[in-house]
Amino acid sequence: MLDAVLRRGQTLESAAAAVRTLPSADRALAVAIAGETLRRLPDLDALIDSATRQRLPDDSKARTVLRLALAQKFGLGTPDHALVATALPLVDGGPRRLVHGVLGTLLRRGLAPIDAPRLPEAIEQRWGDAWGAAALGAARRQIAKRPPLDLSFADEAEAQAYAAAHAGTSLAPRHVRVESSSVTELEGFGGGRWWVQDLAASLPARLVPAAAKEVLDLCAAPGGKTMQLAAAGHTVTSLDASKSRLERLRENLQRTQLVADLIQADALAWKPRRPFDAILLDAPCSATGTFRRHPEVLYRARPPIIAENAELQAQLLTRAAAWLNSGGSLVYSVCSLEPEEGEQVIEAFLAANRAFAISPPVPGELPGFVTSSPEGYVRILPGMLEDQGGLDGFFMVRLVRSA
Ligand SMILES: C[S@@+](CC[C@H](N)C(=O)[O-])C[C@H]1O[C@@H](n2cnc3c(N)ncnc32)[C@H](O)[C@@H]1O
Repeated sequence: MLDAVLRRGQTLESAAAAVRTLPSADRALAVAIAGETLRRLPDLDALIDSATRQRLPDDSKARTVLRLALAQKFGLGTPDHALVATALPLVDGGPRRLVHGVLGTLLRRGLAPIDAPRLPEAIEQRWGDAWGAAALGAARRQIAKRPPLDLSFADEAEAQAYAAAHAGTSLAPRHVRVESSSVTELEGFGGGRWWVQDLAASLPARLVPAAAKEVLDLCAAPGGKTMQLAAAGHTVTSLDASKSRLERLRENLQRTQLVADLIQADALAWKPRRPFDAILLDAPCSATGTFRRHPEVLYRARPPIIAENAELQAQLLTRAAAWLNSGGSLVYSVCSLEPEEGEQVIEAFLAANRAFAISPPVPGELPGFVTSSPEGYVRILPGMLEDQGGLDGFFMVRLVRSA
C-alpha cells in the first residue's frame, strides 16, 4: 500500500485493494498502519537515519519494515515486544539483523511521542509560504490526530435532538460534531436524514442564495452538497462524470428521502436546456485540505498535478458561467490548501469575465467563526476551531453575474 501511494500516486483507499483478501480485522489493521506511517513519514525516516551508519534507500525493504514498526509504536500504541515480533518475520532471509539492530537501538532510547510531525518537505515549503508558520504548526498537530466526525442534517430540529441525545456539539445550523469514528455504528444510519460531511465542506452550499429556485450542483457526487441544497428547498440538478460516484449519490438521496435530478455527463461537453438561478461548482482538486483523514494527499499533490487541476478548474468555471441567469450566483469551492486551485483560479476568471463580481458572505449566512478576506474569499485554514477538533482546509467564493 505504501508503495502504491508513494511511488504510484494512488489513494490509500485504492491501494487498500492490495489487502482485500485479508480477514476484515487484519485488513483494517493493515490500512491503519499504512495511514499512521503516512502521518509521520519524515519523522520516522529521521529516526531511522539517526540509527544507521549508511542511509537505507527509500524503497528498501529494511526501511519499509522499520517505518511500519515505528508507525505502530507512535500511531497505534503497539507494545515494543509486539512490534518487534511482527516486524522481524517480514525480513526473514533478508536484512533481519539490521532491522533488529536499528529497532533495538531506537526502542532503548525511550522515544518521545511525535505530537506535531513534520509534513513532507514540499508541503512545508508551500504552506509555510502561503499561510504562515501558525497554520503550518496547526497542520502538523492535526495530522497526528484523528479528526472528529461531522454530521449534516436535513432538518435543524433533528440536528438539535441528535446533539442532545448523543453528547454532540452543534457548531452551525443543521450540524452536529461527535467523537465516534465508526459511521455505521452511529444511531440512525439506516433511516437517518443526515450524512457525514466535514463542517468546512458544508459551508459552500450555505452560500447559495435561499431565493435561487433552480440550482445546478456541478461535480456533485457523492452528494453532500446536493443533499444540503435539496433539504434547503431548492430544485436541484446534480451532474457528475463518474457513474459509480453518482450511484452513491442516488443511494444517499434515497436514504435521506431527498430529491434531485441526476445527470451523468462530462461538464466540459454537456449543455443545459435552460439557465440556472445558481450554480455550485465544487471542483475536482488536489484535496490537500483533507489531509487529516487522507494523509496521502500530501504525497500526491505535486506541482504538475496542481497545475493540471487549475487548468481543469478554470475550464469548468468558464462553462458554468455561461449557464447562469442574469443576477445568478456561482459558488466555486475546492477542498484544497493550494492557492493555485483557489484564489488564483478566481483572480484569472474575474480578469477575463467582467460581467462577474465577488459577492462576499453576508452576516448570518455562515457560522460566526468564519470570516472572509478583504476580497470576499472564504479560506478555511488549519488552526481554525483547533480546540474543538479543527476543520478540513477549504476555499470558497460566491460570484454574481450582473448581465
Ligand atoms: C470534489 S468532488 C465533488 C464532491 C461533491 N460536491 C460533494 O459534496 O459530495 C469532485 C467531483 O467532480 C467530478 N468530476 C471531475 N471531472 C468532471 C467533469 N469533467 N465533469 C463532471 N464531473 C467531473 C468527479 O467525479 C468528482 O465526483
